[in-house]
Amino acid sequence: VDKGHGVKGLADLGLETLPKQYIQPPEEKITNSTVVTDDSIPVIDLSNWTDPKVAEQICHAAEKWGFFQIVNHGIPIEVLEDVKEATRRFFDSPAEQKNKHSKDNSPTNNVRYGTSFTPKAEKALEWKDFLSLFYASDDEAAAQWPSACRNEALDFMKKSEFVIRRLMEALMKGLNVKEIDGTKESLLMGSKRINLNYYPKCPEPELTVGVGRHSDVSTLTILLQDDIGGLYVKKLDSDSWVHVPPINGAIVINVGDALQILSNGRYKSIEHRVIANGIKNRVSVPIFVNPRPSDAIGPLPEVLEGGEKPIYKKVLYSDYVKHFFRKAHDGKETVDFAK
Ligand code: SIN
Ligand code: FE2
Repeated sequence: VDKGHGVKGLADLGLETLPKQYIQPPEEKITNSTVVTDDSIPVIDLSNWTDPKVAEQICHAAEKWGFFQIVNHGIPIEVLEDVKEATRRFFDSPAEQKNKHSKDNSPTNNVRYGTSFTPKAEKALEWKDFLSLFYASDDEAAAQWPSACRNEALDFMKKSEFVIRRLMEALMKGLNVKEIDGTKESLLMGSKRINLNYYPKCPEPELTVGVGRHSDVSTLTILLQDDIGGLYVKKLDSDSWVHVPPINGAIVINVGDALQILSNGRYKSIEHRVIANGIKNRVSVPIFVNPRPSDAIGPLPEVLEGGEKPIYKKVLYSDYVKHFFRKAHDGKETVDFAK
C-alpha cells in the first residue's frame, strides 16, 4: 500500500477503510486493556528548582511511575509552539521533499524519514510517520537536517539542555552520585536524537495503533505533545494503563531503559503506547537523551556501594540500540538484553 508517501500519503487519499497491513492483533488494542481514570502521572512544578522537595518529587516519580509532566520548566512557550508548527510544515511538504530523507535516499544516517517503526520486523504496521534527527554537531545539523524544521528542532534541543541537566542532577542525588563528572556526563547525556512524529487522522482508528507498546532506550526522554492526546502509560506492577492528558506548555518526561540499567532498576523505564485517532492529525516531538553509542552501560558503582547486587550486566550501548531496532514494538522488554 505504502508507495513511499507514508501514512500521511494514505490519509490524504481519503481512505474510508484501514488498509489491512495496519490491522493490529487484539492484544495491541487499547480497548482490550484496563484504562484507569482515577489516577495519573505526577505533574511537577519546577518554578523553584532549588527546593530539595522538587528533587524528591522527581526521584519519587521516576521510581513509582517512570513518567511525569513538568510545568514552569523555563523553556519558552514559543519554542514549543514553533517546533510543533515546524513538524506540521515538514510533513505537509511534498512527498518528493520528504523522500529525500528516506532510508534509501538520505546521504546520511543522521537523518531518517520513515513510517511505522521497523516495517520489516512488524506483523502489523503502525499508523505513524516520523523524521528522526541524530544530533552530531551544529555544523552537521545545519548541513543535513531538512530546512523545513531544522532551526526549530535545534532550538528546542538547545533550550531544553538546562532542564535536562537539572533533572539529571536531581535523579543522581537520589542515587548518591555526588557530581556529574565527564564519565557520568557521557553515560547520562552523551548523545541526543530528536524525532518529529506525525500521526494522521485515521480511518477505523480502533483497529490500529499510533505506536505499539514499548519502553524507550534512552536515559531520559523529553516529550512535547500537542493538544490531541492519545499517549497511554502502564502503571507500575499492574496491567492497567493511564492516559497522559495534554497540558498546555507542559513537557512529559520519562525514564528510558539506559537509566533503569544505570540505576540498577531503581528508576523505571515504563511501557507506553499511542492510540490512533479518527478526529485530528497529532504531532509529538521527543528528544531522546542517550549515552554515547561507544559507552558500556551497567549499574553505577555508587548504586552498588551498599552491597546491592547488580541486576544488569554491562552492555555496549550501540549493541543495546541495535537490538531494540531489530524487533517490533511488541511490549517485550528490551532491557532483558542486559540480563
Ligand atoms: C513514543 O513513545 O514513541 C511516542 C510518544 C508520543 O507520540 O506521545
Ligand atoms: Fe516512546
